Amino acid sequence: MALAIYRKYRPATFDDVIGQETTVRILREAARRDTLAHAYLFAGPRGTGKTTTARLVAKIANCERRGTDAAFRATGEPCNACRLCREIDEGRSLDVVEIDAASNRGIDEIRNLKENVRLAPIAARAKVFIIDEAHQLTPPAWNALLKTLEEPPASVYFVLATTEADRIPATIVSRTQQCYFRYIGLEALTSKLSRIAEREGIVIEHEALDLIAAAAEGSFRDAESLLDQLATGGTPLTVRDVEAAIGKVGFETLARFIDRLVARDLPAALQDLAAIQDGGFNLAQFTKDIIIYLRRMLVIKHAPALATVLARELVPEHLARIAAHAAHRGSAPTVLLRALIVAYGQMRYSQFPLVILEVALVESLSSPLTASSS
Ligand SMILES: Nc1ncnc2c1ncn2[C@@H]1O[C@H](COP(=O)(O)OP(=O)(O)O)[C@@H](O)[C@H]1O
Ligand SMILES: [Mg+2]
Ligand SMILES: [Zn+2]
Repeated sequence: MALAIYRKYRPATFDDVIGQETTVRILREAARRDTLAHAYLFAGPRGTGKTTTARLVAKIANCERRGTDAAFRATGEPCNACRLCREIDEGRSLDVVEIDAASNRGIDEIRNLKENVRLAPIAARAKVFIIDEAHQLTPPAWNALLKTLEEPPASVYFVLATTEADRIPATIVSRTQQCYFRYIGLEALTSKLSRIAEREGIVIEHEALDLIAAAAEGSFRDAESLLDQLATGGTPLTVRDVEAAIGKVGFETLARFIDRLVARDLPAALQDLAAIQDGGFNLAQFTKDIIIYLRRMLVIKHAPALATVLARELVPEHLARIAAHAAHRGSAPTVLLRALIVAYGQMRYSQFPLVILEVALVESLSSPLTASSS
């Protein structure tokens, strides 16, 4: 059976970890100098490499080449060939224990862990405990863990991973080295996706790939899972396929709708809207997408320097398109924004989301454009 894409393309080396340069640099240095900390806290959004990197820590703590090999000393990379590296990659190592704090809040696990920590590694050099979703641990589990972190045995390492760093007790945090994982920019997402598509022989439109990346909101896992889910048919993937799967219109459809708004072409806007409703798209989601688009126009118009921030969230062609809309004489993002934000609030609880959106458009597009309405 084919491996899920996100497993198959999980980075096996630090080199393959994308977008987490600071963390990677710190860990490679620690590997090279043999100065791994006994406890790390990996904090950041989902799908950005926390579990992946925790397994890399397990490998560099254990790799059989670490003592002798010049390449290891030079790069801080696991060899991925020795028995210990391979066991860890395959999830077979008895000395690398992954605990999912979300599934049982960790009480039994931490109790077992306290016992387990005292025993020497079974086959490996070091024991590594990876505690995922660590913010879910209960107070008794934290207490047990704290005792261990106060005096960790020489061959024991912990990696706590969490999406909610502020829910980790300060007493724990202060005993860890913290590494922050960042949201992944669109560019990085699309380039990894297209590499995967190429290797897997998945034929996919450029725009469809962009939409998958945008829908993943900074998460490699979400992007890779969506590609996986869509690629089962063996037929070329179009932006329509992706739109249908995520219930969200793509950039092209959205930008064309914005064309109507800046041209103040009410009949065309209403027609497009009807078509989008017919396509079965979630209109509240569509409204949200318009709001985000208009907000970006506003930012570009009034704070051009912020375009560099937007450049991280958008591919260059899309950014250029938004900038062109922002520069359009007829654009009145504030008037529309105000109306759409009110509409969005009402739509989600209404039986008539389409009507609410139509009314908002009619009112804001048919009112005269005044100097203050830009
Ligand atoms: N920084 C990254 N570079 C490359 N691929 C990544 C990265 N982060 C995540 N991935 C991909 O997403 C999948 C899930 O990543 P994972 O490390 O489990 O995320 P997290 O633990 O932060 O939720 C990985 O198997 C890999 O394919
Ligand atoms: Mg994880
Ligand atoms: Zn190795």
